[in-house]
Amino acid sequence: MRNLKARITGVHGYVPDYVLTNEELETMVETSDEWITSRTGIKERRILKGEGKGTSVIGIEAVQGLLEKTNTDPGEIDLIICATCTPDMLFPSTANLVAERVGAVNSFGYDLQAACSGFLFALATATQFIESGTYRKVVVIGADKMSSIIDYTDRTTCIIFGDGGGAVLLEPTEEPEGIIDSVLKSDGAGAAFLHMKGGGSLHPASHESVDARMHYIYQEGAKVFKFAVQNMADVSEEIMNRNNLTANDIAWLVPHQANLRIIDATANRMGIGSEKVMNNISRYGNTTAGTIPLCLWDYESKLKKGDNLILAAFGGGFTWGATYMKWAYNGHN
Ligand code: UT7
Repeated sequence: MRNLKARITGVHGYVPDYVLTNEELETMVETSDEWITSRTGIKERRILKGEGKGTSVIGIEAVQGLLEKTNTDPGEIDLIICATCTPDMLFPSTANLVAERVGAVNSFGYDLQAACSGFLFALATATQFIESGTYRKVVVIGADKMSSIIDYTDRTTCIIFGDGGGAVLLEPTEEPEGIIDSVLKSDGAGAAFLHMKGGGSLHPASHESVDARMHYIYQEGAKVFKFAVQNMADVSEEIMNRNNLTANDIAWLVPHQANLRIIDATANRMGIGSEKVMNNISRYGNTTAGTIPLCLWDYESKLKKGDNLILAAFGGGFTWGATYMKWAYNGHN
């Protein structure tokens, strides 16, 4: 049997035009640019404004750009997996809505929900379909319209999150490159510290659920912070060790963009200097499943064939993980 690997052959991202700055947030809640910048590294985030616009808008823009730059006929796509915790609707899946709009008439699709680790979990899932030889063109989207579940009177969460996302095309190769290994974890005990109570089968929407602000994110920030620092660094170290990688071997760390202090702690534990850490949190904030593809998109022109990348994430669930991949092309943008 052929030894197939799944490699990324293109990436594209999308962020909405509206820029919500720290200065504007200062007019909405009791906060300051100084506090937000020093505690999180975020200066601004994007917001998807306008009636009738859900996360699928982000996915459609990202996938259309991806198909164009990779010269891919939408009819050739076999599967679309959309990682999101803010789907347009509980069903049908956002992946289906994207497929219809981009003309992926021969694909099937589904959503995958693992909060901030969603893109990594979806990438690992898509990789199985490629490595098994089942499919040849799989699109993985990571996208979230976080503004749809943020309470803009809660200063502890509204300063962190933004809207945006990206998509990658995965294709098979017989070269020793592409996605090589993943360490993925989850722990339901973390649900207590980061969740959204309302809108699911436990607390369906009602007057009471709206009055109790159940349709917004609930986060115990300091608690989540501690778990994030520990666990993201742990899995990153584990994936380096089991693939015999030293810091020198790694060209780029691609961390989930939740908080600059969490990113720095992970890089420090891995012994990786900041010049090798992808970082766009100051411009986009935390876009949940969107952060990692947005980083890859931003840094694509700097990436070279053969570069060793470690992708790492931590988020609601709790969910966390790290993926080791060898980049497969010399970047364009
Ligand atoms: O991506 C999904 C996973 N999520 C994460 O990884 C997020 C992890 N957590 C964090 O990034 C940080 O915990 C936060 C950025 C959410 C908060 O930073 P922190 O340094 O952990 O602050 P804290 O929650 O311990 O709060 C410190 C103080 C509190 O005041 P007191 O009680 O010390 O008087 C807060 O009320 O800062 C206050 N505070 C604020 N002050 C100004 C909280 N939010 C704000 C704010 N502006 N926006």
